[in-house]
Amino acid sequence: MYYPDDLIEEIRLKNDIVEVISDYVKLQKKGSSYFGLCPFHNEKSPSFSVTPSKQMYYCFGCGEGGNVFTFLMKYENDTFPEAVSRLADRAGIELPKAEYSNEEKKDRDIKTKILEVNKEAAKFFYHQLRSPNGEQGYRYFKERGLSDETMTKFGLGYSLKYSNSLYEYLKKKGYDDEILKESGLVKYSEKGMYDAFWNRVMYPIMDNGNKVIGFGGRVLGDGKPKYINSPETKVFDKGRNLYGMNFARTSRRGNIIICEGYMDVIALHQAGVDNAVASLGTAFTPGHAHMIKRYTDQVLLTFDSDGAGVKAALRAIPILRNAGLSVKVINMRPYKDPDELIKNMGTDEFEKRIVEAENAFIYEIRMLMNQFDLKDPDEKTRFYGQVADRLLLFSDEMERNVYVDTVCEEFMIPKESMERLVYKKSLTYTGEPAAQSRVNETEKNTKKQDDGVKQSQKILLTWLIEDNTIYDKIKSIITESDFIDPFYNKVATKLFEQLGRGEVNPARILSSFTGEDEQKEAAGLFHASLSEGLSNQEKEKSLNEIIKKVKNNSLDYVSNTTTDVGVLQNTIKEKAKLRNLHISI
Ligand code: UTP
Ligand code: MN
Repeated sequence: MYYPDDLIEEIRLKNDIVEVISDYVKLQKKGSSYFGLCPFHNEKSPSFSVTPSKQMYYCFGCGEGGNVFTFLMKYENDTFPEAVSRLADRAGIELPKAEYSNEEKKDRDIKTKILEVNKEAAKFFYHQLRSPNGEQGYRYFKERGLSDETMTKFGLGYSLKYSNSLYEYLKKKGYDDEILKESGLVKYSEKGMYDAFWNRVMYPIMDNGNKVIGFGGRVLGDGKPKYINSPETKVFDKGRNLYGMNFARTSRRGNIIICEGYMDVIALHQAGVDNAVASLGTAFTPGHAHMIKRYTDQVLLTFDSDGAGVKAALRAIPILRNAGLSVKVINMRPYKDPDELIKNMGTDEFEKRIVEAENAFIYEIRMLMNQFDLKDPDEKTRFYGQVADRLLLFSDEMERNVYVDTVCEEFMIPKESMERLVYKKSLTYTGEPAAQSRVNETEKNTKKQDDGVKQSQKILLTWLIEDNTIYDKIKSIITESDFIDPFYNKVATKLFEQLGRGEVNPARILSSFTGEDEQKEAAGLFHASLSEGLSNQEKEKSLNEIIKKVKNNSLDYVSNTTTDVGVLQNTIKEKAKLRNLHISI
């Protein structure tokens, strides 16, 4: 959904950031800003600031920052249009109705209907569990150690022994067969419609917005299949949802624990480990990893300690790693899963296991080692070879060296031999030793230069936002086109336009970036404080240096890209002028 800029700005202006954030975070006024505990990372003393004059927030601890829209995108996991709509509601502003094609409309209607059906079904199961008919189910959960509070929190329920009670109930509520089939709650045979779940304890599966998107149902005893789950539907994408994420996403533990089953998640949350989620028997996907990455950089795996669990862990680790997550593995032995460990050894023991969790790479090597008979020299050699192969996957030399050290120590492999093996293999793979690839060095140097150029553009922008008076002094020298980096150029264009009109409004600039990364970067620009603590003389010196750097780079860029001799001559003149430039503040 696309909304015009002015409407977005109106919505932003009518939602004071201090009021909005106060709904989520306890804030205290200190000087011209408000401070509180950052909701985006775990901390004990407040470094999360909200500044009314800028209408922005910033955390000095973790670097999260933005305006009211980005706050909701981050906190509520809203998309940009969702945040806009939430804040429009809050301010009583009516949004223009979306225009959908018939196809889209039909699809949306079906989705809404399925969600409604799911919600009704969840309520039905919930009440059955707490009625005399559901006594068996209730007893089952009690015997597995769940408190009433936990059962309520997870909305647990029970499906009756009769195979069509839910169907009858939903029919009475007015839902037609078509939609009930789409929901996956009801199936069809020659004999008619019947419930997919009966005589099972029921686990509603919720998305991050607490909407019921599907169900799991467990037999009360040892019957088979142990669990059945809703099929994928228009609202239930198994590769993109994790059980328990609706709770875990607001955990303050700073990481996410991934386990296998419903009961593991529930038992962990009941024990106060409120950052547990489960992939529910389906294979772990990049979609799962991507979702987790929105909340944290660190995950802990507690898959079952049996063969299937180890296999699942070994498959999940590279997926998580590729998503940029750091991964550790929790040792559950001698128990099968977290639920059993907690039941037998208590929460403290589980917390201890968290602290002792093993680096995923070491875990992978350990599991690899189990496949070899190290008493046999040939097998041992093959094992070392495979270890070397895996070490070679680290493209960063420093990181690889650290891992060579750790792995050799952990598995008592002679270090010099491993180093030589890695070196030798790297030659055969790339024709160049892994340690010193010349191509890489050149790449790195260019990258360093790039970073320097970007850095000066960034500093200048931040400076202009922090102290608007500088604009008048530099506007004859620097324009937005001197910001060569495409992202900074976008910011500069908007900022120069505002400065020209004499009204700077960083929060508005921020609304024009809808991507999460861009917003975060822009927010960082607006919150850095540069000149604090500098004497006037120091300020003047660094401002002049920065301006020269930005201008020089921009002139270099022009002269490198132009074919026009006139333009070229002009850049040479400008460069000469720049050498004698001095701006006083
Ligand atoms: P497990 O078999 O490890 O069960 O399956 P569990 O979680 O320990 O179950 P409890 O403790 O006996 O109740 C792990 C997960 O795999 C899925 C379920 O999501 C389960 O929680 N699963 C398992 C199925 O979908 N179907 C099955 O038949 C078994
Ligand atoms: Mn279990």
